[in-house]
Amino acid sequence: MSVRKILVTNALPYANGPIHMGHLLGYIQADIWVRAMRSLGHDVTYVCADDAHGTAIMLSAKNGGVTPESYIASIQKEHESDFAAFNISFDHYDSTHSSENKIRAEEIYLKNYQAGHIAVRPVTQLFDPEKQMFLSDRFIKGTCPKCNTEDQYGDACESCGTTYNAIELLNPRSTLSGSTPVEKSSDHYFFKLPDFNHYLQQWTRDQGRLPVSIANKLDEWFEAGLSDWDISRDAPYFGFEIPNAPNKYFYVWVDAPIGYMASFENYIKTKRPELSFEEYWGKDSKNEVYHFIGKDIVYFHALFWPAMLEGAGYRTPTALFVNGFLTVNGQKMSKSRGTFIKAATYKEYLNPEQLRYYFASKISDKVEDSDLNLDDFIQKVNSDLVGKVINIASRCAKFINKDFNNTLSKQCAELELVQQFIDAGQHIMQSYEAREFSTAIRQIMALADKANQYIDEKKPWSLAKQEGQEQQVHDICSVGINLFRQLMVYLQPVLPALADEVQQFLKLEHFNFASRESILTDWEINTFTPLMQRVDKKAVDAMVDASKSSLTAIEPAVKAVKKTAKTTVTTAQNTTSESIQIDDFLKVDLRVAKVLQATTVDGSDKLLQLTLDVGETEPRNVFSGIRAQYVPEDLQDKLVVMVANLAPRKMRFGISNGMVLCSGDGFIISPASNAKPGDKVS
Ligand code: 2FM
Ligand code: ZN
Repeated sequence: MSVRKILVTNALPYANGPIHMGHLLGYIQADIWVRAMRSLGHDVTYVCADDAHGTAIMLSAKNGGVTPESYIASIQKEHESDFAAFNISFDHYDSTHSSENKIRAEEIYLKNYQAGHIAVRPVTQLFDPEKQMFLSDRFIKGTCPKCNTEDQYGDACESCGTTYNAIELLNPRSTLSGSTPVEKSSDHYFFKLPDFNHYLQQWTRDQGRLPVSIANKLDEWFEAGLSDWDISRDAPYFGFEIPNAPNKYFYVWVDAPIGYMASFENYIKTKRPELSFEEYWGKDSKNEVYHFIGKDIVYFHALFWPAMLEGAGYRTPTALFVNGFLTVNGQKMSKSRGTFIKAATYKEYLNPEQLRYYFASKISDKVEDSDLNLDDFIQKVNSDLVGKVINIASRCAKFINKDFNNTLSKQCAELELVQQFIDAGQHIMQSYEAREFSTAIRQIMALADKANQYIDEKKPWSLAKQEGQEQQVHDICSVGINLFRQLMVYLQPVLPALADEVQQFLKLEHFNFASRESILTDWEINTFTPLMQRVDKKAVDAMVDASKSSLTAIEPAVKAVKKTAKTTVTTAQNTTSESIQIDDFLKVDLRVAKVLQATTVDGSDKLLQLTLDVGETEPRNVFSGIRAQYVPEDLQDKLVVMVANLAPRKMRFGISNGMVLCSGDGFIISPASNAKPGDKVS
């Protein structure tokens, strides 16, 4: 076999929120493929990065009272820890906010500029006079010009479906400041995508480049005609300034895919200096480059990206592997149903490898949506992994450990059966390589059934009770362990942590695909320890509950409080736009609290740190974004109303244990009131 040199990337997650189940589908899919290709002996480099630029990130940092740089750094840390927990085996994880990415983006832009692919012309857009910034569609709301529905975003009406230019909205307002935006013109830089019309039509139809369903979709876009792509944004913007264009920044989607290259470059620099950037990205590269992406970002990856690369003289990706969306229990993930499950919440309650297995059992090479059905998840993991695969080892190992000095039989009593398992590997690995993971899992589970059937028929447990059957028992259980070993080699791309444990249990030096060919005879193993717990329905329910409380009960409640009590609510959390029922509101436990201490927070110009007496044994620590409104000394000994049952929130500065509600120019309850700490507010 010749070793292939392969570079794999995943879509770069925005540094603006947590990794959730929907993200994980794409990362787990890519990671399984990468691990399968490594198991086959190929030289696979797998890189990713946080996508760190754009208006949304700039505003989130501002709201949190921190610099964009420290904001993206703290999100990146969370992302990396989530990916590690789910065993995503990136060789390198970077940020698009790196000097390598800046240099590469400038170079790619300038090469396209020199080749005549950039145009400059004025564009009139809505401008927020208070915030002094241009507003993208999602920061503008107004009345639909077609059907007069109020409160519609700047790009399309949710009621009648009309798409329009934000300038056409009636009574537009900025969602950032509430002010009425004005029209303003400024020069924008455009990438002339139509220059690549012919090139792209061919490129997208190249054999194996894209799933056929996607190539067909792209044909519709070609028929409609390609347009110039606006690649500049005016200051203020968190990103890279465009060379020779002061105060103009690259739109985040320009430097995001270039981040694939920059992350790879940093990987070489820091970890594998013997690799050559040119050998992977040069025009004549013979190596393979694959991007795993979601179907929502095909337009960027199948049109803009290859065109920019072609315009700048680089090679383009070998293929795009496109996955569909994730639903949970058959529906879009929902915060109120508790199915918007963050990676961090999942890992608190359940075993990440079990999710990897469940996803693998669903994934094919088609661009189809996948469903995480939680009951099915419990059933499948318990029956396949615990009930079938691990069961083989636990049934056989106990005899080997107890009666045969931890050593497998000197002979393989079922050569043919074991050989069948070895041979089946070819097909299984072909399925992995073709990204037909569900087929691979089906094949592996059919083998697991066969192994269990063998043990059921031979009944070592009853032979063990009979005189003179020791050799039989030893042989049968040794075959069982060999079969188990084959299965685990095949499951290793999906269950790397479990495979590691099995490798240690079996005292094997290698666990890659080729290693399966040796049959284990007269081989010492370790004592068997339970390898996996069953999924407990209670843990799943608790995870769903926690997903509700960490994201919903409180955030919509914040809005309800705003509306009903007409108070200003300050919170470090983002609010959602879902409406809530009165029952949701009643879940909010409002209590009187006394400010024992209020201090400023180093590194934040938004927050105050409050020590509150809520009538409990210990005072509570709360970070509150009210620094602009209050002098800390003035708050000393004042009574405030707080949301006492808000889930603790880990912030950069520490843990915040609740949320304080304040009115515009004083507190809701004055010091004269006879309320005392811990009193319930109803
Ligand atoms: O859609 C997204 O989440 C983007 N952050 C993906 C970027 S992929 C690549 F182009 F950087
Ligand atoms: Zn409308």
